[in-house]
Amino acid sequence: MVGATGGIGAEVAAALADRYTLWLAGRDETELKEFAGKLPDAHCWQLDLAADPDISDNFPELFSVDVLVHCAGVFQLGDVAETDPAVWRELFAVNLFGVASVTRLLLPALRAARGRVVLVNSTAALGPPAHRAAYAASKTALRVFAEALHREELPNGVRVTSIYPGRVATPMQQTVRRMEGGRYEPERYLDPASVAGAVRSVLAAPPDTHLTELVIEPEWRP
Ligand SMILES: NC(=O)c1ccc[n+]([C@@H]2O[C@H](COP(=O)([O-])OP(=O)(O)OC[C@H]3O[C@@H](n4cnc5c(N)ncnc54)[C@H](OP(=O)(O)O)[C@@H]3O)[C@@H](O)[C@H]2O)c1
Repeated sequence: MVGATGGIGAEVAAALADRYTLWLAGRDETELKEFAGKLPDAHCWQLDLAADPDISDNFPELFSVDVLVHCAGVFQLGDVAETDPAVWRELFAVNLFGVASVTRLLLPALRAARGRVVLVNSTAALGPPAHRAAYAASKTALRVFAEALHREELPNGVRVTSIYPGRVATPMQQTVRRMEGGRYEPERYLDPASVAGAVRSVLAAPPDTHLTELVIEPEWRP
């Protein structure tokens, strides 16, 4: 479970805690330990997705993994003309390269369990990218990554699902609204628990089914 300290990630971890032994991965070890202490069976994996060499240094020895959920991510608003190269690098490091590295490291254990990979993507990968090119491009690349992984791992029994939520009421959305210069209106956005519910449903799908993509938009409110 990567991004366990985030708005969506924490809800996903809580929603899966009664069924799985969890490994909570994230940057803040203190926060992870505190969270793990509230769950029935959870361990911590200190991990900075943007610091690629550290990923394998800290890697926990896991021989069988039923589910890998990617919930970490970073956002930045900005036109192409004003987006610094460092922003492009950070967004791709976290939203794509880190995801690819962690997935690759866990693939043998996922294959051993005929496990599942769930990637929390964004409707930004499906809609117009203007004014958020770096974020939308990183999420579009994540979609391509998921498609490749899905095709390559089918013969190994690993199933891959991308979830594309619209706006979700989390700290990231507070940042998005601040950057957009608009009010943060959580009642108009998806509840992170609903996204966690979608992850649970994907994992509860019958064994003969393979949900590859799921788009979740908030209910329209006037
Ligand atoms: N909120 C939305 O409206 C929305 C909509 C569509 C899709 N999404 C996607 O959903 C996912 C979760 O978003 P959220 O709303 O839950 O955001 P959030 O509350 O801001 O949480 C982001 C998570 O990513 C982690 N993270 C950031 N940089 C990292 C790094 N370098 N290494 C490891 N972990 C890192 C954060 O850890 P720290 O605690 O260490 O910062 C945190 O756990 C993201 O991929 C986002 O793009 C969000």
